[in-house]
Amino acid sequence: MKLTIIGSGHVGLVTGLCFARKGYRVLCVDNDKKKISLLKKGIVPFYEPGLDKMLKESMRKKRIAFSASVKEGVNHAEVLFIAVGTPLGDDGSADLSYIENVCRGIARSLKTYRVIVEKSTVPVRTGERMKRLIKKYSGGTCFDIVSNPEFLQEGRAFQTTLYPDRIVIGVESKKAERIMRKLYARFKAPIIVTDLASAELIKHASNSFLALKISYINAVARVCELSGADITQVAYGIGLDKRIGRDFLKAGLGYGGYCLPKDVAAFAYISEHLGHKFNLLHEIQKINLGQRNLFIKKAEKALGSLKGKKVALWGLSFKPDTDDIRESPAVAIAYRLVKLGAKVQAYDPKVKPSKIPSLKNRMKFCASPYEAVKEAHGLLIATDWKEFKRIDFKHVKKEMLRPIIIDGRNMFDPAKMKKSGFVYHGIGRS
Ligand code: UDX
Repeated sequence: MKLTIIGSGHVGLVTGLCFARKGYRVLCVDNDKKKISLLKKGIVPFYEPGLDKMLKESMRKKRIAFSASVKEGVNHAEVLFIAVGTPLGDDGSADLSYIENVCRGIARSLKTYRVIVEKSTVPVRTGERMKRLIKKYSGGTCFDIVSNPEFLQEGRAFQTTLYPDRIVIGVESKKAERIMRKLYARFKAPIIVTDLASAELIKHASNSFLALKISYINAVARVCELSGADITQVAYGIGLDKRIGRDFLKAGLGYGGYCLPKDVAAFAYISEHLGHKFNLLHEIQKINLGQRNLFIKKAEKALGSLKGKKVALWGLSFKPDTDDIRESPAVAIAYRLVKLGAKVQAYDPKVKPSKIPSLKNRMKFCASPYEAVKEAHGLLIATDWKEFKRIDFKHVKKEMLRPIIIDGRNMFDPAKMKKSGFVYHGIGRS
C-alpha cells in the first residue's frame, strides 16, 4: 500500500517513517524545497532520537521518497495525510491558512477518489471547512475527509507513533473507514472510530487535559511551598490513584512546545466562538505562565539583584531529547535574565546558538555544563536533560562563585544537594 504525507515537519516526517517501517511506500511532500533537498540526501532537519537511523533505513529499503509537489503527492497514493502546521493566530485562534493552501493544491490535482486525512491538530469543524474548500476547487471528483489526530510526543516520537495508546479515526463514510482500518491494521493499538467532529475534539481535549494536569500540579506546588509540604511526595501520592495516574504531574517551569500552548489557546478560542466560555482553559494558561515569574522571583531572592551577575542556565529546549525551542519556558527565562541585566552563560546539549539568533550576541552559549557554571553566582536549571543527572557536582561547586542552584525541573534531592554544600531551591519543595 502507498501513502502520501503532505508536510514534512516533526509530525509528517515521523508519521511517514513509521508507515515506511510498517512496509508502506511513502511519499513525503513539503513546499520547503531546501528541506526536501536535504531529506533526499538523508539529512535530518531537526533532532529527534532515532530519526537519523530511521530515515537512512527507510531510504535504503526504498520505502520513502520526497517531493516538493503536491500534485505528485496526490497522484502517488489513495490516502493523503495533511500534517502541515496550524500555528496560533494573533487572536488565539488556530491559523488554518497552511491547511487551506494544501487543500486547494490537492483539489486542483484531484482526478480520482482520495481519502484526505487531517493529521495536524485542528479546531473542531475544520474537516467541514476542508470539505467545502476541496469541493469548490475540485470539479466534482469524489473524496472523503478523515480526522486522524496525532498523539506524538517529541523526544519519544517513534515510540509514541509506532505504539500509540489509541488510534482515533473520524470518518463520514464506510469506504473511508475501511481504507483507514486497513492502513492501521499493522499497528497494535485500539482503534476508535468516531464522527469527524468528535475525532477533532478528542485531540484538543486531550492536549488541554495534559496541560490541566501540569498546571494543577504547579498550583499545588505553590501551596506546598506555603505549607512546608514537598510536591514530589504529594504528586506521587496523588498519582498512585489509578483514576488520576502518575504521568504529567511533574511540577516545574510549566509546559511549552509547539502543541500544548497553542492547543489550549485554540481550544479556548473555538469553545468561545461556539458559545461556551471555557474559563478553566484560561486559568490553565495563567498558572503556566505564572511559573516563569515565580522562578525568576526565586532567582532574585536567592541571588539578589540579577543585574551584572553571572548566571548559568542549563537547558534551552522546551523539554529534553529535542532541540525544539518553540514556546520553550527555558528560552523565555533566558530572555528575562538578559533583560534583567544578568550575564547569562547557557548550555543545552542540542540547541545550537543559530536556533536563537536574537540571543546569540546577548548571552554566552557554552560547550559544556561545566563551562556554563564558571564563576557563576548561581545556576538555574530550566530543562530536565538526563545528562544533568550524571553531573559531577564537586566539579560544579569548584567552578561556581557561589554554590546556589535554582532547579526549575526538580531534578535533584534537596537533602543531598544541601549535603554537597549547595543552597538548593526547587519548585514546591521547602
Ligand atoms: C504533546 C502531547 O503530549 C502529544 O500527545 C501531542 O500530540 C503533542 O503535544 P509534546 O509537545 O512533544 O507532546 O510534549 P509533552 O511531552 O506533552 O510535554 C509538554 C511540556 O510539558 C514540556 O514543556 C514538558 O517539560 C512539560 N511537562 C510535561 C511538565 O512540565 N510536567 C509534566 O509532568 C509533563
